[in-house]
Amino acid sequence: MTTRHKLVVGNWKMHGSHAANAELLQGILAARPFVAEVAVCVPFPYLSEVAVTLSNSSVAWGSQDCSAHVQGAYTGEVSATMLAEFGCRYAIVGHSERRAFHGESDQLVADKAKAALAKGITPIVCVGETLEQREAGETEAVVKRQLSAVIHALGQCIGEVVVAYEPVWAIGTGRTASPEQAQAVHAVLRAQLAAATPRASDMKLLYGGSVKPDNAAILFSQADIDGGLIGGAALKAADFVAVARAAS
Ligand code: G3P
Repeated sequence: MTTRHKLVVGNWKMHGSHAANAELLQGILAARPFVAEVAVCVPFPYLSEVAVTLSNSSVAWGSQDCSAHVQGAYTGEVSATMLAEFGCRYAIVGHSERRAFHGESDQLVADKAKAALAKGITPIVCVGETLEQREAGETEAVVKRQLSAVIHALGQCIGEVVVAYEPVWAIGTGRTASPEQAQAVHAVLRAQLAAATPRASDMKLLYGGSVKPDNAAILFSQADIDGGLIGGAALKAADFVAVARAAS
């Protein structure tokens, strides 16, 4: 029995436009109140307008990345200080698309999480195995290695992060992890966190990977799943609202 409050976060990835964002956000706002905490992580250029639209609402917002650097000659990077100026409550770090397409290492992801936390932004640290790794029986070792770098970098502050388990093979594929598969990995992650901080039982562990209105409730009802990080289904208000409502 958990007393943790659930969290549902939309990861818009590289989608959006002024018009589409306005429609999506109005749809989400019109569906309030939610029992779960709800947030959207949007592309950097839209942070400003999203902040204006969502300010004074119960819906939080955040970014999809955060530089590990404080400031300086880092072309294309966006610092945690800047994100904080735009009211970001969350910053996704270590999404598998960034690990795969931008070569982000476990250490860099850990440094990004640390940089976000230093400015009062909650990092949503993503971990997850590829299909090859799962089939080779390496799931546990991979997610533990990824999380261990963050635990090592943050020390006791690890208790302040949100962890998202996103099996790479389930992202955008329509092939979701079964509730049992997801719960098994979440339990491993929670146990790893428990060895590092007394706050582990209060920490939120999200599942991500083809969460849809029709599978959200069963996933979110697992003992160690405290909500979701939602991709495709976060782009249509009706779907995102249905997923958010499945978390209570
Ligand atoms: O971060 C969310 C994500 O990677 C899952 O994407 O489209 O499978 O819900 P999707």
